[in-house]
Amino acid sequence: MTDSDLPVVCTAIPLSDYARGRLEPNCDIRDVTGCKPGELPASIDEAEGFLCGAPYMMGNDILDAAPHLRVIANHGVGFDNVVVSELNERGIVCCNTPGVLNGAVADLTLGMMVSIARRIVDHSDFVAAGEWGKSRPAGLGFDLAGKTIGIVGFGRIGRTVAKRARGFDMDIIFHDQFTDPGEDDDCSYAELDDLLKRSDFVSLHTNLSPETTHLISTRELEMMKDSAYLINTARGPVVDTDALAAGLKAGLIAGAALDVVEAEPPNGDEAILSAPNTIILPHVGSATVETRQAMLQMALDNLLAVLAGKEPRACVNPESLEKAYQRR
Ligand code: DGY
Repeated sequence: MTDSDLPVVCTAIPLSDYARGRLEPNCDIRDVTGCKPGELPASIDEAEGFLCGAPYMMGNDILDAAPHLRVIANHGVGFDNVVVSELNERGIVCCNTPGVLNGAVADLTLGMMVSIARRIVDHSDFVAAGEWGKSRPAGLGFDLAGKTIGIVGFGRIGRTVAKRARGFDMDIIFHDQFTDPGEDDDCSYAELDDLLKRSDFVSLHTNLSPETTHLISTRELEMMKDSAYLINTARGPVVDTDALAAGLKAGLIAGAALDVVEAEPPNGDEAILSAPNTIILPHVGSATVETRQAMLQMALDNLLAVLAGKEPRACVNPESLEKAYQRR
């Protein structure tokens, strides 16, 4: 709380007019965009709320520097930027934006698969290089119909990917550490090793946790078909990127499409950046006008609700809500 009597909210994401319009009447906004977590100004010590993109690391350095913090509103579904037990200890809640980005991430997943299957990037590069009419284009692609997609992580996004894959007449198998084995419509459960062996595309949709860090490494790549592709739109560290780069080079699998990598942005010297048959995108799974607006709306709803002592639309650690309300 400050002289204005409004709660201080730091924002690490640039605010649109819409966001400003919603925040200004209710908060004293401190713009910290462009400040990396280690470079935040001392004035964050007044912050009760923090609005940030999902990969913005909210470590103990920030929590110590902001002793009045009650709510971290992630503009994203992932919450690997916080340690939940640490937040619970301090009475801080973390809110996120589940649900509203399922379609966008699933579209990108299928888009990358279609791009691989139909060699869209190769063909586009061929034309851009002025080769059309001078040499022969890349060879034939392949049909997605009848191919098997193995979905690892069968939550909201994984299930939406399955729905899209059905439209392409693909066979669908899934693995999930939290979902009971069984049939789900026309998708069948498989143990991870079995899924890796059977899939033409392995598509990752898990959250990032100690259990899923480097879930895919050399052993797993060796199990995959040498004609198979790995798709990662989840979190970079779910894949051991150096192992993937080596595996691609050695031909363990046919290729990869990654919307996320371990260091974002990459340092520039990672082997994966020059690995063969690899598409890398700059973490744009949710980057559509409609989806980003829905995420923003939800993140603001969450932030303002907690600051007003009301229930947010989505909260990672609801067990700490009462404590966060009382810390006002
Ligand atoms: C998420 O929602 O966690 C995405 O990765 C951010 O775009």
